[in-house]
This record gives sequence, C-alpha cells and structure tokens, in this order.
Amino acid sequence: MSTDEKVNEVSADTGDQDPITPSSGNDATSQADEDGATGPIILFFIVGLIASLIVGWVIFPQLLYSQKRQPVGFNHALHNEEVDNECESCHFFREDGTYSGVPKLAQCIECHEEVQGEDPEEAKFVNEYVAKGREVPWLIYSRQPDNVFFSHVAHVKTAQMECVTCHGNIGESESLKVYEENRISGYSRDIWGKNIAGFKRNSWDRMKMDDCSECHVKENINQNSVQTLKGGCFVCHK
Ligand code: HEC
Ligand code: HEC
Ligand code: HEC
Ligand code: HEC
Ligand code: HEC
Repeated sequence: MSTDEKVNEVSADTGDQDPITPSSGNDATSQADEDGATGPIILFFIVGLIASLIVGWVIFPQLLYSQKRQPVGFNHALHNEEVDNECESCHFFREDGTYSGVPKLAQCIECHEEVQGEDPEEAKFVNEYVAKGREVPWLIYSRQPDNVFFSHVAHVKTAQMECVTCHGNIGESESLKVYEENRISGYSRDIWGKNIAGFKRNSWDRMKMDDCSECHVKENINQNSVQTLKGGCFVCHK
C-alpha cells in the first residue's frame, strides 16, 4: 500500500508538474508582463540619463561660465597688415626683459587720433577711450592668478616658442572671442579648459598648473633644475 501510495504520490507530483511545464501559454503571459514592465523602466532610465547628461554637459557649463564681451571689438588680422613690426609693434619686450602684454592707449594714438574709417568699433574706441584719455579695460583671456609667476622671455625668446602654442589663433583672428569667466573661481575659461570633461585637443585649450608642468616635463628643460619638477613650487609661485 505504502509503495502504491508513493508511486501515486510521485505520479501525482509529476502530474502536477506536467500541466505547468508544457503550458507555454501561462509562461508567455507572465513573460509578456515582465516585458511590459522592463520596457518603461529602460525608457525611464534612458530619459533620465539623457536629461542628466544635458544638465551636466550643456546647462551646467553654461551656468558655470558668465559671458562677457570685450569693451571694444578688435581685428588682429586687419592690424597685422597696418603695422610695421608684426606682433612686436603692440606686444613687445621692454629693455629689462619684462613683457608689455596688452598695448596701452599710447600705442594706438598715432593712428587713431581721430576716427579714420566707417567701422563703428573704431568710432566707439576713439570717442569713448582715445578722446577721454581712458585706457581700454581689456579682458585678458590668459590671466593667471596673482600667485603665479610667468615669464614670456623664457618661453618666447629663450625657448623660441610660438604664441599659438599657448594662446591659439587670437593673434590672427578677425574678432575677439567672448570672454568666459568661471562664476565660482573667477578664472577665465582659457585657463580652466574648453571641455568640461577635461579633454584637451590643442595645447592652448587649457593652462592649469598641470598643463604648465606637462610641457615642462615633456620638453625636458634642465632635467636637474627644479622647474621640471612640481616640487620646485617657487619657479612658478611667488
Ligand atoms: C595694433 C596692435 C596689435 C597688434 C599688431 C597685435 N595685437 Fe595682439 N592684441 C592687441 C590688443 C589691443 C589686444 C587686447 C585684447 C584682449 O584683451 O585680448 C590683443 C590681445 C592679444 C592676445 C590675447 C591676450 C589675452 O590673453 O587676452 C594675444 C594672444 C595676442 N594679442 C597675440 C598677438 C599676435 C600673435 C600678434 C601678431 C600676429 C598680435 N597679437 C598683434 C593688439 C595688437
Ligand atoms: C599703424 C596704424 C594703426 C595702429 C597703431 C592701430 N590701428 Fe586700429 N586701425 C587702423 C586702421 C587703418 C584701421 C581701419 C580703419 C577703417 O578703415 O575702418 C583700424 C581699425 C581699428 C578698429 C576698428 C576695426 C576693428 O579692429 O574692429 C579698432 C577698434 C581699432 N583700430 C583699435 C585699435 C587699437 C585698440 C589700437 C592700439 C592697440 C590700434 N587700433 C592701433 C590702424 C591702426
Ligand atoms: C608658454 C606659453 C606662452 C607663450 C609661448 C606665449 N604666451 Fe602670452 N601668456 C601666457 C600666459 C600664461 C599669460 C598670462 C600671464 C599672467 O597672467 O601672469 C600670457 C599673457 C599674455 C598677454 C596678456 C598680458 C597682460 O597681462 O597684459 C598677451 C598680450 C600675450 N600673452 C601675448 C603673447 C604673444 C604675442 C606671444 C608670442 C610672441 C605669447 N604671448 C607667447 C603664456 C604664453
Ligand atoms: C608648451 C611648453 C610650455 C608650457 C605650456 C609652459 N612652459 Fe614654462 N617653460 C617652457 C620651456 C621650454 C622653458 C625653458 C626656457 C629656458 O630655456 O629658459 C620654460 C621655462 C619657464 C620658466 C622659467 C624658469 C627659469 O628658471 O627661468 C617659468 C617661470 C615657467 N616656464 C613658468 C610656466 C608657467 C607658469 C606655465 C603655465 C602657465 C608654463 N611655464 C607653461 C615650456 C613651457
Ligand atoms: C610649472 C609651473 C608651476 C609649478 C612648478 C607649480 N605650480 Fe602651482 N600653479 C601653477 C599655475 C599656472 C596655477 C594656476 C592655475 C591652476 O589653478 O591650476 C597654479 C595653482 C596652484 C594652486 C591653486 C591656487 C589657486 O588659487 O587655485 C596651488 C595650491 C598650487 N598651485 C600649489 C603648488 C605647489 C604646492 C607646487 C609645488 C609642489 C606648485 N604649485 C608648483 C603653476 C605651477
């Protein structure tokens, strides 16, 4: 009897299982239910991902940087044709080796005593600055914080480097680009980088401490000099 019962039990068990296993109908519906749930979940995930990417890569950088126009437009390409000594006519080294940087009004006056053309930017420049004897408050794209020491002589004269390496094509441009200021740090975007993820396509895309050091190490300048090591802090910091 007991064995019969066991057999019965077993058969009953298999009998129980049988209807479930082959009944693909049930399975299909339960799977369909799952699909119905994963679809929206994946969609939801993708929408959320895209939204956060847009916030992180497009909106955040726009909020992070305020855009400022230069006080006066300036066409480098046009002026390079007019002057005798190319860049040096306006950006020159003084006797003591220091760099004049951005030109002063005095360097413009020989040609802009009065308005000579039709250009509204020239009229603005002459009327608002030359006539009133006010220096133009140019925004310096490459401005480093006060604690950084940088010397043009070492790079341009001694190391014979091109302006383009660090400044890009500003010197050949037809108009001055918009100046972007980091709202938190106050740095220019030319220092903190064009790309928020930190990718750098050109040597002038960013000029943070690591970018200075990267070149100093690569150029192998005075291997035994402190300036090739980040350890030599006082080469660049005063
Ligand atoms: C007629 C004068 C003049 C000549 C010539 C001239 N520049 Fe300039 N340059 C200016 C003025 C004015 C500015 C100020 C705009 C500014 O703040 O960026 C400037 C700004 C710059 C800057 C941007 C500095 C910064 O970080 O803001 C660079 C780089 C530069 N010039 C490179 C050159 C090069 C390279 C040449 C030669 C191919 C050249 N310039 C010729 C007048 C001149
Ligand atoms: C060697 C002569 C010369 C010098 C020096 C010079 N300019 Fe000019 N500048 C010109 C000429 C020529 C024009 C074109 C005028 C026209 O016909 O519209 C011009 C045009 C301009 C214009 C209008 C076009 C533009 O660039 O957007 C501005 C602004 C200007 N100059 C600013 C300056 C400033 C600032 C300096 C000093 C850093 C300066 N110039 C030095 C000759 C000169
Ligand atoms: C090795 C990189 C490098 C090279 C090469 C270089 N510069 Fe600069 N330049 C800088 C840095 C960094 C600053 C900012 C300095 C600071 O804020 O103390 C600067 C600042 C300037 C300024 C603004 C200075 C001011 O305060 O008025 C001008 C103009 C300029 N450079 C023009 C040039 C020109 C023209 C050349 C080519 C003859 C050149 N630079 C080559 C890195 C470079
Ligand atoms: C693309 C290469 C390059 C970049 C970028 C660069 N440098 Fe240099 N730097 C050099 C070279 C090459 C020398 C050596 C010049 C020489 O032979 O005296 C040098 C020398 C110097 C010196 C002079 C050291 C001395 O003992 O006279 C200082 C200061 C300096 N760099 C600071 C900086 C700072 C600050 C930055 C970033 C804002 C910077 N450099 C970016 C290549 C670079
Ligand atoms: C090759 C030049 C160079 C050397 C060497 C160097 N620095 Fe810098 N450092 C910079 C420049 C350029 C900046 C400004 C740009 C930035 O914040 O990355 C800076 C910024 C900094 C800042 C941030 C300051 C601020 O206002 O955000 C600190 C802190 C600093 N440096 C510490 C050091 C120390 C410590 C060393 C030595 C171990 C050192 N640096 C060596 C070029 C240099």
